Order: sequence, then C-alpha cells, then structure tokens
Amino acid sequence: MKNIIISPSILSADFVNLERDIKRVEKAGADWLHIDVMDGHFVPNITIGVPVVKSIKKVSSIPLDVHLMIENPQKYVEAFKNAGADIITFHYEAVEDVFAVINLIKSYGVKAGLSIKPQTPAENILEFLPDLDLVLIMTVEPGFGGQKFMHDCAQKIVEIKQNASDDLIIQVDGGINNITGHICTSLGANSLVAGNYIYGHNDIAQAIKSLK
Ligand code: DX5
Ligand code: ZN
Repeated sequence: MKNIIISPSILSADFVNLERDIKRVEKAGADWLHIDVMDGHFVPNITIGVPVVKSIKKVSSIPLDVHLMIENPQKYVEAFKNAGADIITFHYEAVEDVFAVINLIKSYGVKAGLSIKPQTPAENILEFLPDLDLVLIMTVEPGFGGQKFMHDCAQKIVEIKQNASDDLIIQVDGGINNITGHICTSLGANSLVAGNYIYGHNDIAQAIKSLK
C-alpha cells in the first residue's frame, strides 16, 4: 500500500479547544497538521498567524504543514520557521520571484511547498519542480473550509506527476473526503489535506483511515 500523508486542516477544529482537537487527530493517525494562514488580502478571509503557530508547536508532536495564503510570503518565512513550521507552502500567484522564495525557505532547513489556485495551469510551475519538496494543488478557491471539490483541478495531479521526481510530495487541498481523496490518490497525489471531512466525522480515526 502506498503511504499517503494525511494532513488534517485545523481550520475546521474548535479553536476554543484547539489543543484537544490537535491531540484528537494525532491519536487518530494524522501524519501532519495543516495550518491555514490567511491575510485578508490574498484571500478574503483572516485566520491564523505566527503566535498561534508558536503555541501549537508546544502541544503537537507531528510536523506542522503551514499553508500561507498571504501576499509577500517572503516577509514572513523566518517568523513561521521560528514559530516551528516544518513545511512552508506559499502561493505561486502571490510572488514575483518564485525561485527566491523557495531558496529562502530551504535556507532555513524547512521543506518548501508551492501552491496553485484552481485557475492556474500546472504548466506554469513545471520549471520549479526540481527545487521543490511539495506541490499543493488547490481543489477549491482558497479562503474557506467546507467548499465543494472542483473535479477539473484534479487533472493537474497527472501533469505534475509526469514531470516530477518520485520524491516530490503532491498534495491536494479543498473538499477532500473518502471519495474525492481516492480520485486524487489514484491520479498520483500522495498527501491529502482535509478539514471538514475529518473534523466533521463522528469517528475521526475512521475518517483518517478511509483517506489512507
Ligand atoms: C482552504 C484551505 C483548506 C481548508 C480545507 O482555503 O486551504 O485547507 O481548510 O477545508 P475542507 O477540507 O473542509 O475543504
Ligand atoms: Zn490549506
């Protein structure tokens, strides 16, 4: 069986009981913790910032997968690294010099991820693949949890996979459940982000197992 990295999005957790909800997914077999950082500019929503990531680091025992949906991500890479990020993913659409941001992230010894929104073709990022640890294909418009999976985006997985080395982590995010997750992994994705599906399930361990 292929090893699929499951990264529950804490955007769907109960923020009043965040530590409890982090421990719940860890105990249930989560591999990473997906943290959605939004700035109200790159996307219409505002969510989590550096101090919260720092606090999460103190109580979590699995890698922190930080998804930056912000303008000028290069300004915040050092702060998120210091807060405890293990993977930092930024958006292709948010920067001018993609190589510079990848190199900056890697210079801190953190895994570098690049994400594309639904309207961005996969071919735009092919030149960066050899330098990346992870590609995140958004299967909803970034900004909110609980949206419907966009099937058209899933085809990008195939294009990325055909052009990447076996080491590249191909992650999908948005509307992932046991059915859409299976579509993505059969096309070649090896990491699934899920918020509502995991946190909305009455048996979290079962939800994670079904994604794997
Ligand atoms: C959306 C975020 C996602 C979101 C996923 O912009 O990047 O990580 O939390 O939530 P679900 O799985 O509920 O679509
Ligand atoms: Zn995300």
